[in-house]
Amino acid sequence: MGRTTYYTATTLDGFIADEHDSLDWLFVQDQDEAGALNYDGFIKDIGAIAMGSTTYEWVAAHNARTGDAWAYDMPAWVFTHRELEPIGDGITFTSAPVVDVHAEMTAAAGDKGLWVVGGGDLAGQFADAGLLDEIVTYIAPVTLGKGRQIFPRRYDLRLVELAQNKAFACARYEVVGPRGGPTLGA
Ligand SMILES: NC(=O)c1ccc[n+]([C@@H]2O[C@H](COP(=O)([O-])OP(=O)(O)OC[C@H]3O[C@@H](n4cnc5c(N)ncnc54)[C@H](OP(=O)(O)O)[C@@H]3O)[C@@H](O)[C@H]2O)c1
Repeated sequence: MGRTTYYTATTLDGFIADEHDSLDWLFVQDQDEAGALNYDGFIKDIGAIAMGSTTYEWVAAHNARTGDAWAYDMPAWVFTHRELEPIGDGITFTSAPVVDVHAEMTAAAGDKGLWVVGGGDLAGQFADAGLLDEIVTYIAPVTLGKGRQIFPRRYDLRLVELAQNKAFACARYEVVGPRGGPTLGA
């Protein structure tokens, strides 16, 4: 069974999007697409993905604007309590417990890994269920002050890989476990 990874880009102060869900701060950064911890190397070993509805709706709006197609050929689970329109094949909308969805994803993925695309609280829900193995993050040289938090939890992580990819510090952390105490921002 493959690993479950939250692979994402973040600002230095821990935001994966600004408060208006903009990624403008990210797309202007210089990166080597064949460099350290790159997306193509990551996605080739992924057999199923999960994301929250804000992320899904961001992708849907982006694709509608650019004409891009749904980029994922592996099955995808989108967490929502609402009725949303599929914008590609293999998309399942769900509000089932993450434990159940993780089991479905694992069965679909075969020996490949699972990607929790985001956002941060959804990744935290997988971690809280003991189902998140690692966080791989591209840290951009920018601060925003506020926005969507990368991981609104108190957790211990272990740094297991660190590299530079042009503008980004790229880090792989194993999830050790919760530190206890209240959730940050609650
Ligand atoms: N920097 C990056 O690499 C990166 C990566 C991923 C995402 N992003 C961006 O970061 C932002 C993330 O947004 P976000 O923090 O709001 O998170 P999100 O996880 O994308 O969406 C949160 C929403 O998902 C639904 N949801 C979450 N957990 C659920 C559950 N257990 N059952 C059913 N529904 C559930 C809820 O909406 P409803 O029930 O109302 O539908 C919730 O409000 C987006 O702007 C996205 O584009 C950036």
